[in-house]
Amino acid sequence: MDERRRRGYLKAMGVTVWEPRVPQSVKSVPDSRPVTAAHPAEPMAPSATAQEDAAVQPLEDLREPGLTVAQMDWDALGAEVASCRACGLCETRTQTVFGVGSRTADLMIIGEAPGAEEDRAGEPFVGRAGQLLDLMLAAIDCPREQVYIANLLKCRPPGNRDPKPQEALRCRDYLNRQMELIRPRLILSVGRISAQHLLGTDSPLGQLRGRWFDFGQDPIPLRVTYHPAYLLRSPDQKAKSWADLTEIRRRLDVLQKGAERG
Ligand code: URA
Repeated sequence: MDERRRRGYLKAMGVTVWEPRVPQSVKSVPDSRPVTAAHPAEPMAPSATAQEDAAVQPLEDLREPGLTVAQMDWDALGAEVASCRACGLCETRTQTVFGVGSRTADLMIIGEAPGAEEDRAGEPFVGRAGQLLDLMLAAIDCPREQVYIANLLKCRPPGNRDPKPQEALRCRDYLNRQMELIRPRLILSVGRISAQHLLGTDSPLGQLRGRWFDFGQDPIPLRVTYHPAYLLRSPDQKAKSWADLTEIRRRLDVLQKGAERG
């Protein structure tokens, strides 16, 4: 992308761009910090709700016999999610919000849960936070149509409350299957709730961003950044989010070039 266009996006995002004092080539040292392992099946870190979590009946036990979620193709998975009644959120949703984007995406974005606008539209990240997310993605040359966007939860928690751990656990097989079907090269987890659930930790987001995690048994590199809704409330954090996104772009370039070479 040419520099003028990128600067246009950054301006629209409200990110101040500082001029580098040294040439860019000298500054772009690859991130050499250690990678930490995390697995989708790992439990949440012990917390006040740990006992409650342990009592959550697995999704598969609640389903009619047939294909397991892990065996489903896109059509079967879409139908399964649309008719899901595994937790109480089915009572208050307008519709489920499955996910959107390219099913062959190199980058998968994982947010928290649909809000009121997403619940109405049936699509993730369509409200104000979604518009900021679109700008952020466009600024690293990853337009919305070329990535895949999904949430931990497929249904809106009423009143925009945080998802409960049990709700996230119930919904988790769906997200796992989406990841298996897409097999993205990179995952970007946006927001504290998404990061803590995916990485199985209670650590604050500030401690989770700025490094790569190996996610899953057949590991996919995962990075964490601030939720765009938080950036709307705290625009002074946008520069940090921009740093996270440029690292995503850098690693995507490396992976994509490696794939080209074969
Ligand atoms: N916030 C999220 O985490 N996901 C959405 O889809 C919308 C807002």
